[in-house]
Amino acid sequence: MEAITHLFVFSFFFSFLLRTSITQDTLAPTQSIRDGDTLVSAGRSFQLGFFSPGNSISRYLGIWYTISSETVVWVANRNAPLNDHSGVLKVSDGGILVLLNSTNGVVWSTNASRTAENPVAELLDTGNLVVRDRNDDDPDDYLWQNFDYPCDTLLPEMKLGWNLGIGLDRFLSSWKSTDDPAPGDFSVLIDPRGLPQLVLMNGDSRQARAGPWNGLSFTGHGSGHGIRPNPVFAYEFVLNKKEVYYEYKLINTSVFSRYVVNPSGVAQRFNWVDRTQSWELFFTSQADECENYGLCGGYATCNINKSPICACLEGFLPKSPKHWDSADWHDGCIRRTPLECNDGDGFLKRTGVKLPDTSSSWYNKSMSLQECEGMCLKNCSCTAYSSLDVRGGGSGCVLWFGSLVDIIEFAEGGQELYIRMAISELDHLEKKRYFSKKKLVAIIVSSTFLVVGMTVLALFSYIWKKKLKNQGCPMRAISGMAKRSERKNYDNEGGKEDMELTIFDLAVIANATENFSKHNMLGEGGFGPVYKGTLQGGKDIAVKRLSKNSGQGLNELKNEVILIAKLQHRNLVKILGCCIQANENMLIYEYMPNKSLDTFIFDQTKSKLLDWQKRINIIHGVARGLLYLHEDSRLRIVHRDLKASNILLDTNMNPKISDFGLAKSFGGDQIDSKTKRIIGTFGYMSPEYAVYGRYSIKSDVFSFGVLVIETMSGKKNRKFCHPDNNLNLLGHAWKLWIEERPMELIDELVGDLSCLSNVLRHIHVGLLCVQEKPEDRPNMSSVVQMLSSDYLLPKPRQPGFFTNSIEVNPHTTCSANGISITLLEAR
Ligand SMILES: *[C@@H]1O[C@H](CO)[C@@H](O)[C@H](O)[C@H]1NC(C)=O
Ligand SMILES: *[C@@H]1O[C@H](CO)[C@@H](O)[C@H](O)[C@H]1NC(C)=O
Ligand SMILES: *[C@@H]1O[C@H](CO)[C@@H](O)[C@H](O)[C@H]1NC(C)=O
Ligand SMILES: *[C@@H]1O[C@H](CO)[C@@H](O)[C@H](O)[C@H]1NC(C)=O
Ligand SMILES: *[C@@H]1O[C@H](CO)[C@@H](O)[C@H](O)[C@H]1NC(C)=O
Repeated sequence: MEAITHLFVFSFFFSFLLRTSITQDTLAPTQSIRDGDTLVSAGRSFQLGFFSPGNSISRYLGIWYTISSETVVWVANRNAPLNDHSGVLKVSDGGILVLLNSTNGVVWSTNASRTAENPVAELLDTGNLVVRDRNDDDPDDYLWQNFDYPCDTLLPEMKLGWNLGIGLDRFLSSWKSTDDPAPGDFSVLIDPRGLPQLVLMNGDSRQARAGPWNGLSFTGHGSGHGIRPNPVFAYEFVLNKKEVYYEYKLINTSVFSRYVVNPSGVAQRFNWVDRTQSWELFFTSQADECENYGLCGGYATCNINKSPICACLEGFLPKSPKHWDSADWHDGCIRRTPLECNDGDGFLKRTGVKLPDTSSSWYNKSMSLQECEGMCLKNCSCTAYSSLDVRGGGSGCVLWFGSLVDIIEFAEGGQELYIRMAISELDHLEKKRYFSKKKLVAIIVSSTFLVVGMTVLALFSYIWKKKLKNQGCPMRAISGMAKRSERKNYDNEGGKEDMELTIFDLAVIANATENFSKHNMLGEGGFGPVYKGTLQGGKDIAVKRLSKNSGQGLNELKNEVILIAKLQHRNLVKILGCCIQANENMLIYEYMPNKSLDTFIFDQTKSKLLDWQKRINIIHGVARGLLYLHEDSRLRIVHRDLKASNILLDTNMNPKISDFGLAKSFGGDQIDSKTKRIIGTFGYMSPEYAVYGRYSIKSDVFSFGVLVIETMSGKKNRKFCHPDNNLNLLGHAWKLWIEERPMELIDELVGDLSCLSNVLRHIHVGLLCVQEKPEDRPNMSSVVQMLSSDYLLPKPRQPGFFTNSIEVNPHTTCSANGISITLLEAR
């Protein structure tokens, strides 16, 4: 290295000897720069002339610092060296710079967008060689400038990036070697795809990535080694429709600084230090292994302080464990639980990271983080989101599509990233965190107890139990598990946005419902009446007051509170809290202004308000909510009383499944269970459940099928009576279907049949759901797929319970109502 420096110095010393004159800072058409002449900028910071780099004897036209003549910042003829000292630089009458050889052949020349009348070339004190027209009013309106054609060095005020309007890409490219300024393998450029980012390329592949600009620095710089507020530079990143570029400016113009990519592909920033008369390294890229682009593969993070340095993101597993274990991380990681798309997904928040590769991202500078999340959830291929600009608490939106590559975990600094995951995976991670916390607490508690002694413990627990009894609400059972942010975001460090259930005071609820007045009653559910209430402050609530005489009420209540607290989905009704006091057991829900689905579809006038699109949306929403209950939630849950009156509608007619009190949860692989008590509603119950008490997720699918057919026909399964036969609605629908007259089934009150084929498809799916044998019925994930695609569906077989005569309860024929049956012993 030292030898090379000496050679540099020697060759420059030699070339200085050959120089005969130093000219001014401008070059007019009558003048020329010959080998040995130099053009000096007005402030004397830079010089332009001919030189030979390193050991080379070839001659190049270049620009170097006056203070350090071996530091060449730009080369004109980097691809076309001169073999002798005969080179001459001229500016033509039209304003084109040309470099001529001994035979007056053009070795190198500039382009000009227009011709000048009175052209002049000038070396500015920034190091910018410009051609302009002296007759121009605007002296900054250049015909050409070398700042648009950088070599390996970025100087202050130079733009690195794109003028999108004219397609000009300004990028740095390394020298081949210290002897050869021809473009080498490495380049530093702004990749304009997705959210633009600064990358270091090795040929066509990425070597390292500083990442996108986050308002303060490149995200890949963590807390900002290299780029951070300082008294020397000001940084700027411009991103608009016309331009995308990075530039830095000197605050103190008597300082020299340069950013250069060297022939070995390392990008470095140097500052000139007067005292030592040398360049001091200020910043270097690829300071550690983690900066190698994509070292850990997709969905993994790199942390230089950990061993191994690569780790899968939470909820992900190595794609090829064998390779991974032998420190070959390139295959990256894959999801443990596949994404559900739509409502089955949430986000895991990571902090202190370098944002992943943005080349296949999308951004919007004005969206809020919340809008950003919504946008990501809407597109199934969106895998993560984050703020675009971190200043002022964050603004803008970046969405990633596809794999997340090149994430670094920083010890300090870094950014927040929200990674999309299936809710069930989030639940799993949350549980893990919860239990590891619990373990720690247990250790502390147990050692404390040892000291305090068993007597105190017994006394304490006695008092504690009593206290809990008085409070009533099963909060102890659900604390921790109920911790769930409303926005489905899971904080890495344990949620800040957690939502807890509220325990309401009886007086508050009595006041809100005007002492449970009759005119506030919304309806009568399986366990008791439901009231509308208005809290102080105007918030509407729905209060489910459990009948004191429903023997199992309290158990069911506890079940419901725990389940609903754990389950959150757009299509499930949200529980706000409970109130258990003075023999009153109550659940407080969000209030649904549009009541339930049955009040629409079975009502002559109101049914007109639900057009086909709305009905289809409702069916899709219910399907997704049910899918979530069956497959995505932490516990597999069978609702067991799905019916139109349990589908509530919000202001926008979005469906929310309610009444989980009947739902039974069972763990893991158990898919079918026997129950002694049958809870459900005639007309919606599957045969195997009503007759044998066997319930499974397939009994919910049956109820769902009934719901679909009811929604499309506007008729109640249970109340349906055909004058000619004893078929119920299901039987009737199936008969029409096999006789190929399904049109006769659909609700004629709805009108507009522009989406007829879609309506018929829904009926078809409904019929598949109500097939007699549970194993013939599809599961909810197939149902969701069938509803939203257009592939050919199988022929439905005969539905279960298709006549009115084989009912379990002989008293209920055509006149039966739809009230839940809560007690019915199976054989
Ligand atoms: C001068 O340049 C021209 C055009 O590039 C080339 O054809 C010619 O051979 C060169 N002459 C010498 C002496 O290198
Ligand atoms: C001149 O323009 C051509 C074509 O647009 C381009 O390929 C070339 O790189 C430009 N050269 C310089 C020195 O600007
Ligand atoms: C600018 O930098 C020079 C050289 O480091 C220093 O002497 C001078 O005080 C600085 N000026 C300001 C305004 O900081
Ligand atoms: C960006 O988001 C804002 C606010 O949501 C919206 O008004 C604007 O149209 C969006 N721009 C683009 C290009 O999507
Ligand atoms: C999801 O985003 C990708 C990438 O921007 C886009 O190609 C696709 O059309 C989007 N899909 C939907 C349904 O918006």
